[in-house]
Amino acid sequence: GRVAVLMGGWSAEREISLRSGRAVLAGLQARGVDAYSVDAGRDVLQVLEDGGYDRAFIALHGRGGEDGVIQAGLELLGLPYTGSGVLGSALGMDKLRTKQVWRGAGLPTPEYMELRPETPAADVIAALGTPLIVKPAREGSSIGMSRVTTEAELVAARDAAARYDRDVIAERWIAGEEYTVSLLGDTVLPAIRLETPHTFYDFEAKYESDATRYHCPCGLEGADLDVLDALAAEAFRAVDGAGWGRVDVMRDANGAFWLLEVNTIPGMTDHSLVPMAAAAAGIPFDELVWRILETSLE
Ligand code: DAL
Ligand code: MG
Repeated sequence: GRVAVLMGGWSAEREISLRSGRAVLAGLQARGVDAYSVDAGRDVLQVLEDGGYDRAFIALHGRGGEDGVIQAGLELLGLPYTGSGVLGSALGMDKLRTKQVWRGAGLPTPEYMELRPETPAADVIAALGTPLIVKPAREGSSIGMSRVTTEAELVAARDAAARYDRDVIAERWIAGEEYTVSLLGDTVLPAIRLETPHTFYDFEAKYESDATRYHCPCGLEGADLDVLDALAAEAFRAVDGAGWGRVDVMRDANGAFWLLEVNTIPGMTDHSLVPMAAAAAGIPFDELVWRILETSLE
């Protein structure tokens, strides 16, 4: 049948999604799939209905595409789609609620506070210490994020994050190693350790810099690696993630793991992590997108 590769959209991650989507489209076509590019605008459901598509591969990132909105529309149309459903998508997009769910499930995630406009910066620093990382609750690709160490920086960072979302969180900064674990169906792909000369793995480090280093195999072995893999899989399940995704995790100086966030539609650009992990597992890109497409089969 005809497969629509949904890309673009209207979120702050539109350009990244176009890069993911074009790569996915090429991979599916290389596998002989009858796939087409659909730039998902506000009229996307009409376009899908008129186009006679049988299935959708969602390569959208951020709000409108990764947060359950498109997923709900596709449910209404009765069109099978890749990845997580409405609940998992909505929860996974929202770092605040994701952390609440993880805490409720007894999973480790750094201490945090919601930053309301009226929250005194001094209270936040008194409760959480410094440094802190300030994030809009529902963004991706590190957009709107800053690391702060003072009250003045915290206020400025809250205002910067609030440009992207009404919900903003401050999270205790975990010094240590950064890992990301990709999930494909029931398979946990090889973890990657990220090393960036930037303060954190920010937008530039993700997509523009050649200075970011990726270690895969990640350097952990045995029980440590088992704990990381199991934690990522459990964290994904806890938010009702399905099909495929990626979980970002820190490991502190004592070797303890801390869950940062889940991505229910991770990047698929040539700089992206899921394709890198798949390649390390011997899964070429076109096989990867084929297997993700299979997650849309009920
Ligand atoms: N939000 C970006 C696309 C990622 O997680 O890879
Ligand atoms: Mg993310």
